[in-house]
Amino acid sequence: MEKTLVLIKPDAFALHYSGDIIKRYEQEGFRIVAMKLLKMDERLASIHYAEHIGRPYYGDLVGFMTSAPLIALVLEGENAIARIRELHGKTNPAEAADGTIRKLYATNGRRNAVHASDSPESAAREIHIFFNETEILDGEYHVME
Ligand code: PPS
Repeated sequence: MEKTLVLIKPDAFALHYSGDIIKRYEQEGFRIVAMKLLKMDERLASIHYAEHIGRPYYGDLVGFMTSAPLIALVLEGENAIARIRELHGKTNPAEAADGTIRKLYATNGRRNAVHASDSPESAAREIHIFFNETEILDGEYHVME
């Protein structure tokens, strides 16, 4: 089992797509093991997007990501990192495959609805930017009848 960090970005949150996107993760068999609503600030953005500092789009990216609330989730499943990236589709929705979350809910390369970790190393780093260990479900649970 693998864990990955997903962000439902400000565009998708503000357009009320969060429920549909979360439902899709559940339908695809992923397990939600952590979730929170927050507003990213510039400091958090500079940590999360550290590898993009200095890129021409960095200012736009941070401006967008700090403009409205977002939802952070940790999803768990087999091969979750690659499968969630595939489910999200290409960064630019115009190039995203039919049925992917970005094809359905994104507008362009900036307002692109979702973020997901791209490797086991980035997942381990990114999960702990948004969640501490006690906020991540560990083990099975059984709902009382
Ligand atoms: S990816 O997903 O890492 O392969 O995509 P990449 O093309 O490398 O882009 C990295 C992140 O930068 C965002 N991005 C932009 N934001 C605002 N404006 C512009 N022009 C822009 N171009 C790229 C892109 O959405 C990626 O964000 P995340 O959150 O990692 O998906």
